[in-house]
Amino acid sequence: MQGNDGDDGEGRYRVDIPAELVETIRKARHVVVLTGAGTSAESGVPTFREAQTGLWAQYDPQELATPQAFQRNPRLVWEWYAWRRSLVARAQPNPGHAALVELEQRVPQFTLITQNVDGLHQRAGSQRVIELHGNIARTKRFDDHVVVEKWKETGEVPPRCPTTGSLLRPDVVWFGEMLPEPALRAAMDAATTCDLFLSVGTSGVVQPAASLPLIAQQAGATLVVINLDVTPHVSPRACHLCGPSGVVLPSLVQAAWPVEEKGDA
Ligand code: APR
Repeated sequence: MQGNDGDDGEGRYRVDIPAELVETIRKARHVVVLTGAGTSAESGVPTFREAQTGLWAQYDPQELATPQAFQRNPRLVWEWYAWRRSLVARAQPNPGHAALVELEQRVPQFTLITQNVDGLHQRAGSQRVIELHGNIARTKRFDDHVVVEKWKETGEVPPRCPTTGSLLRPDVVWFGEMLPEPALRAAMDAATTCDLFLSVGTSGVVQPAASLPLIAQQAGATLVVINLDVTPHVSPRACHLCGPSGVVLPSLVQAAWPVEEKGDA
C-alpha cells in the first residue's frame, strides 16, 4: 500500500489515504500508535537531530543527553533542559495530536506509546499515554532516580534534593539508560496484540522503541509509517504515508470517519 500525497496545486498539502487502509482502520479492534519527535515538530518543539538555534546552537543534543554529560557538567545539562522545558511550556498541541485524541474515541481499544517527553499528547486530551522516555516536566534524584516534587531554590544549579542532598535532574531517559520497565512491558504487550500499528514522526533508529513496529508486524498487525520522508528501513512491507503528521493524521481520521466540512453542500 502506498499513499498518494502532495500539493493540491493551490498550496495546500493533501494526502490520499488508500481505500484498503480506510477499511483496515474502520475494522480495527486494537490500534497502537507510536509517536516520536516529528509529531511535536509542528508545535515548534525542535527534534534532537535537527540543528539547534540561538544559545544552544553550538551543542549537540545527543552529547548533552547522557549521564556522563551530567556528571561532567551538571549545570550545562540542567540549563539545557530548563530551556527545552520553557519551549515545551509555550508549545501548543497541533492537529496531529488532536487527530489521535479522536482516534482514541473511535476505536474499541487504543494504546498511545510516545517517545516524546513534552506531555503534548496529554495536553491535547489523550487519555492513556505510555511515556517510554519519561517527562521533561518531572524531576528526579540523579543518585537513585526517585522523583522529587519540591525543593528549595538556593541559587545552586542544579538544585539538590532537600532530603538526601542528591543533585536533581530531569526525569527523562538519557542515551545509554534503561527505559522504565512497566512502560516498556505495556508497550511490548500492546504491540503484540494490536491489529493496526501506526508509527508516526520517528526516525526509528533509537532502540528499543524502534523494534515495536516490527514486533507488531511480525505478530500480524498492519503497519503504517507516517513521516516527512520515506523510511523504508522501518519496514519495506509497511504502508508509507509521507507528509507532516499534523496533516496526515487528520486526513486518516477524516477518511475513516468522514465529517462534512463547514460550507460543504
Ligand atoms: N511530521 C512527520 N514526521 C516528521 C515531521 C512532521 N512534521 N517532522 C519531522 N519528522 C520526522 C523526521 O523525518 C524524523 O524521521 O520525525 C523524525 C524525528 O526523528 P528523531 O528526531 O530521531 O526523533 P525520535 O525518533 O523521536 O527520536 C527517538 O531519540 O532523540 C532521542 O530520546 C530522544 O525520544 C527521542 C529518541
